[in-house]
Amino acid sequence: MATTLEALEARREQARLGGGEKRIAAQHAKGRLTARERLSVLLDPGSFEEYDMFVEHNCTDFGMEATKFPGDGVVTGSGTINGRLVYVFAQDFTVFGGSLSERHAQKICKIMDMAMKVGAPVIGLNDSGGARIQEGVASLGGYAEVFQRNVLASGVVPQLSLIMGPCAGGAVYSPAMTDFIFMVKDSSYMFVTGPDVVKTVTNEVVTQEELGGAVTHTTRSGVADVAFENDIDALLATRDFFDFLPLSNRHDLPERPSSDPWDRQEDSLDTLIPDSAARPYDMHELIRKVVDDGDFFEIQPAHAANIITGFGRVEGRTVGVIANQPMVLAGVLDIKSSKKAGRFVRFCDAFDIPIVTFVDVPGFLPGVAQEHDGIIKNGAKLLFAYAEATVPKITVITRKAYGGAYDVMASKHLRGDLNYAWPTAEIAVMGAKGAVEIIFRGKTPEEIAERTAEYEARFANPFVAASKGFIDEVIMPHSTRRRIALGLRKLRDKQLENPWKKHDNIPL
Ligand code: HXC
Repeated sequence: MATTLEALEARREQARLGGGEKRIAAQHAKGRLTARERLSVLLDPGSFEEYDMFVEHNCTDFGMEATKFPGDGVVTGSGTINGRLVYVFAQDFTVFGGSLSERHAQKICKIMDMAMKVGAPVIGLNDSGGARIQEGVASLGGYAEVFQRNVLASGVVPQLSLIMGPCAGGAVYSPAMTDFIFMVKDSSYMFVTGPDVVKTVTNEVVTQEELGGAVTHTTRSGVADVAFENDIDALLATRDFFDFLPLSNRHDLPERPSSDPWDRQEDSLDTLIPDSAARPYDMHELIRKVVDDGDFFEIQPAHAANIITGFGRVEGRTVGVIANQPMVLAGVLDIKSSKKAGRFVRFCDAFDIPIVTFVDVPGFLPGVAQEHDGIIKNGAKLLFAYAEATVPKITVITRKAYGGAYDVMASKHLRGDLNYAWPTAEIAVMGAKGAVEIIFRGKTPEEIAERTAEYEARFANPFVAASKGFIDEVIMPHSTRRRIALGLRKLRDKQLENPWKKHDNIPL
């Protein structure tokens, strides 16, 4: 018996070594952790239960039958993060470069199926050379099995991808279909075709980092959500992030007790809005003063920063926050910000996370490029997402709410449950000067100035909208947290359903 137990332990030891000491050292030399080291940072100590440790590939081409590593390049299992269940896979670059074989894919599919059955999120740590070249089409089939599960799991359990090394070719499409993508700076990249192919086809010369590094994807493309300095930062932030997420669409929101008073008054908010309408202010200040303990996890902070999206808590329960940011492009809605916020709204709605919207928006961005690139269909994504969302929706207009953007930003007309405005709100079809120049075209500058002052007095306030019931209450800025907390309490048991349908047809 003793020898059998020892034999098991010896097998486990060998499996834990992955591709061996030399390849582990090479991984460390690149500033990267191994798959198992990553899981030990991500999960609560001692919580990881590994499955399929002894799975091996079934390839017999290219002499592969002689080269087998237990586990076959991916470590899979379940564990907990701050006591809550999660299913994980971590690709092991030390084994065939973390490349995906048929069996490797089966291991990932197994934990995805289990996560779906029990209702727990899936976190994938991606570090892979892509399809296992020796296996050919078997590997492509394996990818497609994973893709199919990504789609079925979407909206059922939260899915999070950490890109911690190479991720190229069709392999990028699994992370792309998960809810959030985190990347590590200078050490991870994602692209459909790499720099060599790009050079051959388009003659463009570009580095891996420029083409698909963490900075590129979290600023320009918006493919990824947040970039971190190194593996440890990314994994620890993932633990914090996980605490905001419900386990599945069947679970209630996680609660984290907070000593932050629900009715905390923030007098400084009474002077947040500058005297001049043209002067910006930082919308982050309002968000941090409203959520519990100022704790806000921002999604896509560096992409389309004219809109802010992220998670906070009120009275310990998660809320999704969407806010126009006057500091960037005056908070205007454009293609990128509409897509960013639209996707965020849909995540919140899928997982029953209430949405709090702070509005200061001058409208949609005018311009030939915006029109030609499809601001109509792309702006409609955010409109569609807000309109279909049935979760509690609380909206606070702090300053501008002009034109179509007023409608879009969780207005009463899109089933906003509680629509508040600060006394500084200006709810109108457009800014005073622009409106007067159209209505009174050809008038002298003096007349225009006079009419502008008249228009401002009449429309640059929240009271016209309030008189029609479009605004439920004009509130003191200092009471914003209290109002939101009270509203969320009341809306906790909100019931609202959309008409039956197979699925909608959001303008993609
Ligand atoms: C099998 C692979 C592999 C792969 C790497 N390795 N990629 N084995 N299949 N796809 C192995 C290497 O042979 C090597 O084995 C070890 O992993 C480390 O690789 P290195 O090249 O030494 O590492 P590095 O210099 O860091 O370069 C990493 C790399 C490079 C950039 C990922 O290995 C690379 O370009 N690999 C091929 C990428 C690729 O073309 N993949 C297929 C794409 S098509 P030893 O034994 O020496 O340690 C695809 C389609 C998916 O993915 C479609 C889905 C629908």
